[in-house]
Amino acid sequence: MDKLGLFLCGWTGGPRRYGEKYGPIAIPPAHAHLPIIEVEKDARLACMQVALQEQDYPPAFKIYFLKQLTVPASHIVPVRQNRR
Ligand code: HEM
Repeated sequence: MDKLGLFLCGWTGGPRRYGEKYGPIAIPPAHAHLPIIEVEKDARLACMQVALQEQDYPPAFKIYFLKQLTVPASHIVPVRQNRR
């Protein structure tokens, strides 16, 4: 939770707290040891959507935030599994 929170702070345009504490990171390699398939990617994004709905953020921010997650989420699904 700490790593994800710090990473998303910088990812959405704020201070780059993840790098300050844990060093450099690239999202696809950080997930390379996980055999994540398309349906799991979708499930993870759906969880984030539910979590966002529970927050008192402006609707425009919720849309922006989910969009910011969608592209990197697609990049961590290995190509061979994406084709299934
Ligand atoms: C697409 C579906 C995704 C799944 C199923 C997933 C799952 C996971 C899991 C299981 C870990 C823990 C790995 C470990 O400790 O061995 C992890 C770490 C992490 N994930 Fe994801 N993730 C997904 C997408 C994303 C996206 C879209 C982002 C950011 C835009 C993200 C950011 C991170 C970060 C920052 C870490 C910590 C990495 C580290 O410091 O070791 N993840 N993820």
